[in-house]
Amino acid sequence: MRVPSRSVSSPLLVALLGLSGVAAGSAAAAPSPGAESAKDRIYPTIGNGGYDVQHYDLALDYRPAAKRLSGTATITARATQDLSRFTLDYAGPAVSAVTVDGRPAPVLRVRRTRKLRITPPVPITSGAPFVVAVTYAGRPRPTSTAGPDEGFIPTRRGAVVTSEPVGAKTWFPGNDVPFDKAAYTLRMTVPRGLDVVGNGVLRSKVPGATGTTFTWVEDQPLSTYLMTANVGRFRVSTSTGPGGIPIYDAVAPAAAEQTREEGGIAAQPDILAVFSKRFGAYPFTTSGSTVFDEPALGFALENQSRPTYSSAPDASTVAHELAHQWFGDAVTLRRWSDIWLNEGFATWAQWYYDAHRKYYFPTRANLRGVLRIEDRAFWNVAPAAPRSRAELFDGAVYFRGAATLEALRGRIGDARFTTLLRRWYAEHRAAPTTTRQFTALAEEVAGRDLTPFFRAWLYAHRKPAKRFR
Ligand code: TRP
Ligand code: ZN
Repeated sequence: MRVPSRSVSSPLLVALLGLSGVAAGSAAAAPSPGAESAKDRIYPTIGNGGYDVQHYDLALDYRPAAKRLSGTATITARATQDLSRFTLDYAGPAVSAVTVDGRPAPVLRVRRTRKLRITPPVPITSGAPFVVAVTYAGRPRPTSTAGPDEGFIPTRRGAVVTSEPVGAKTWFPGNDVPFDKAAYTLRMTVPRGLDVVGNGVLRSKVPGATGTTFTWVEDQPLSTYLMTANVGRFRVSTSTGPGGIPIYDAVAPAAAEQTREEGGIAAQPDILAVFSKRFGAYPFTTSGSTVFDEPALGFALENQSRPTYSSAPDASTVAHELAHQWFGDAVTLRRWSDIWLNEGFATWAQWYYDAHRKYYFPTRANLRGVLRIEDRAFWNVAPAAPRSRAELFDGAVYFRGAATLEALRGRIGDARFTTLLRRWYAEHRAAPTTTRQFTALAEEVAGRDLTPFFRAWLYAHRKPAKRFR
């Protein structure tokens, strides 16, 4: 789903202006192929033009012993141009069949750009909904483009499924860009005794001849990089958070004791309450976690409504991932190079929670701590202008990004800063965002020009001068 930019396309205006046909862009142009890139600077091959995904239905089967993933992804999309052909991002197991609106469609696998190029038997009309079904089977191969493994990662008895930034395409075809959000249904069958933990709400868990089928539904649109389908043996517990939010936690038995000791999962209701109060109401209808006992993987990831932790998290880590529900999951990136809007914000919120609960220093102390860093390599990374994939999740994106917000808080005062965060969340949930939109809102709230401040903190390849701290 994409929120269209404002345009002169209301039927009334078109009629008044006598522009029908021309304005609607339907002047008998021949259907043409959709663009094969969304022109993301960091990931130039991701994204596909000419359509907008509304829904993913992923009907999958996973056999951990054979590491075999099979099934059909059914994508409902709406054409945004007359389409003779279109592509999906895909780097998963072998494809055996593709249909468009139920009719077999020729498909070409373009390995270089990790795409499926699909030719519908009849061209798709602009504005029309259409349904693509892709059937595939084989061993998924995670990728690694920005540090940690991304994608469908087989473990001894299950799978860890982390899609950020571009790993979703290793387990299902789609429009693998953060800004084309869609609802999702995951129907996954696994051998008996295993659990599947997805996003959203568990609709059903049905035993069958070949295993148990779990149906997870997330009807609040989510980006592909936030989709998950974790498989393992878990202890499941459900509870209720602030405002009645249902919380679904799945913890690997081997991580259970440490999960209690670390206390992060138990702190979820408190964290949700603190952030809801500070940023605005929690964006989704459910929450919770999957906790693995895979410490070697060493990550935490903010999958929408249900973050994943590779091992038992502390409250600070959980605060980071839950902060992403507001900043990253609800408020969405337009392009990956603005990743500090996710990571800088989540890190600042983590400082805030830590300080709030007096587990750690006030947020101001964290800013001073960052400013004590003397490493030239750290300051050489500009949070809002990462030059490569290697810089996307650099420590500077997190810590200098968070320090930017804390320095801004010092500059404009806590009241205006709070207003800024609340407005950023409330007003920018609907459409993908950029750093420019944030700095513009900051200037509006502050009532003054902040260009030199943001240049020093977000774009310069050196430590900001004293007057900006
Ligand atoms: N976004 C994650 C965080 O909360 C970090 C991350 C980036 C990640 N890419 C990942 C985690 C890939 C797991 C896999 O900071
Ligand atoms: Zn993060």
